[in-house]
Amino acid sequence: MHALILKMKPGKPEKRKIGLAAGAIRRGGLVVFPTETVYGIGANALDGNACRKIYAAKGRPSDNPLIVHVSDIGMAEGIADIPSRYRKAIRKIWPAPITFILKAKKALPKVVTSGLDTVAVRMPEDRIALSLIKESGVPIAAPSANISKKPSSTSGRHAIDSFKDSVDVIIDAGRSKYGMESTILDLRSFTLLRPGAFTVEEIEKAFGKEPKVPEEAYGTREARKAISPGMKYRHYSPDTPLFLFKGNPVALAKILSGWKGRFAFIGSRETAAALTGTSKKNIILGRRGTQGQSRGTCSQA
Ligand code: TXA
Ligand code: MG
Repeated sequence: MHALILKMKPGKPEKRKIGLAAGAIRRGGLVVFPTETVYGIGANALDGNACRKIYAAKGRPSDNPLIVHVSDIGMAEGIADIPSRYRKAIRKIWPAPITFILKAKKALPKVVTSGLDTVAVRMPEDRIALSLIKESGVPIAAPSANISKKPSSTSGRHAIDSFKDSVDVIIDAGRSKYGMESTILDLRSFTLLRPGAFTVEEIEKAFGKEPKVPEEAYGTREARKAISPGMKYRHYSPDTPLFLFKGNPVALAKILSGWKGRFAFIGSRETAAALTGTSKKNIILGRRGTQGQSRGTCSQA
């Protein structure tokens, strides 16, 4: 199969092209589409056979359930129970880069939930994603568009490289706004299952209470048990070797000066300054000591 590639400007849905992609969804096909977090590989969430193809294309284990994307609250209520005490907050938050774990309704095929009695539901803020769901007229089940274990696609180019031969349509709208997956919040126990683009502070503000954050959600040590089914699998495993360095910049500069081959540095502005000339590419995360003030800052490295 050769995917039909539809190019669009970020956040600018084109009616005719969206119509083509929505047609593929309605016919039980697979469509890779942009969201504000990462690209998704989607199918009609109400069509079990279509959803099974997602697992095959990604090489994803069948016990790892999918996130279902909706374009309005009514569509969400067709597949899940929204607790009345949270309805107001959810209305205010959505669309946003946050996914809620809710009690699933019977209408959903088991392949979407991996047989759990809950379902992950998200309303993306990306306008192309929203218009695709709306035009399809059905909720769209979509995990991140990456081969299982690999990093999520954050650009149309990544997605095309991985899926041009295994899906029907790919919408290429350039780079994702956040480049990080949605936050997952279990609304039954008000527990953070996966940190992501929507911050804990934003959750607190919207719901007026702090979510429980289990140690496993920090990812600072191997989870003893999977708090979300996907957590027990290897994730975000890039092809390029990645080294985490602890120590002072002088020691690091020494190591790097003897390094053969190309590399990039990811870290603080201060450390980068101490490494002048060693790396061809520096990716600066922010200044030291500015942790927690905004997205994209760091305190060490
Ligand atoms: O930003 C995102 O969330 C992207 C875009 C495409 O929306 N999607 C995404 O999907 O990251 P995926 O499949 O890569 O990650 C979904 C995670 C998995 O770890 C899965 O185990 C978990 O959500 N999940 C799905 N249903 C669940 C449920 N009922 N209970 C707990 N965790 C669930
Ligand atoms: Mg994923």
